[in-house]
Amino acid sequence: MKSSNITWHESQVTKSDRQELNNHKSPILWFTGFSGAGKSTLSVAVEKKLHSKGIRTYILDGDNVRHGLNKNLGFSPEDRKENIRRIGEVSGLFSDAGVMTLTAFISPYREDREMVREIVNKEEFIEIYVKCDLKECENRDPKGLYKKARNGEIKGFTGIDAPYEEPSSPEIIVETDKQTLEDSVSEIIRYLQKKKYIV
Ligand code: ADX
Repeated sequence: MKSSNITWHESQVTKSDRQELNNHKSPILWFTGFSGAGKSTLSVAVEKKLHSKGIRTYILDGDNVRHGLNKNLGFSPEDRKENIRRIGEVSGLFSDAGVMTLTAFISPYREDREMVREIVNKEEFIEIYVKCDLKECENRDPKGLYKKARNGEIKGFTGIDAPYEEPSSPEIIVETDKQTLEDSVSEIIRYLQKKKYIV
């Protein structure tokens, strides 16, 4: 913490006031998994479904956020940690604003994901493991990056020469190499209804 002499200001409209106005809770749907596992595709499809149900949403996506807010970060373990920390803070702000937030980051380190769980309201952190066999992600290779990593053109690529630590107890697991996109979307929506985040 570099800054001192700073004071927290309370506003008169609270998070629960905002949630009440919106008629839904504002949890964070944290998608994690390999590049090419389907995090972005799934978050887009889930957002579309939620939007059609009148829910206020926003997606924070790794590739997009790295063009702006996090453009000064690379892929070393330290930079990935900072990437996830910032997104944790930003998604906490969105949640406070009453917006249901969907994040799509590889977020390969368990400790970093747990850090986010600590930053935000624990009951509103929903870890979704987008599980897909690495071989299948490599076959899909939508951005041609696995090929580059295998050729040594990219160093420290997740799954090739950088680790991915599987979630130990995620709230939801979807297996994109075994189930359809529609099934995965329904599974997530059912979970949100069952836990009363949405009606
Ligand atoms: S994270 O590890 O810090 O969570 P993030 O989700 O923001 O990663 O970004 C991952 C995306 O960056 C990948 O989908 C891929 O397009 C691109 N990328 C570029 N270099 C790497 C790398 N070394 N490892 C993983 N992804 C990379």
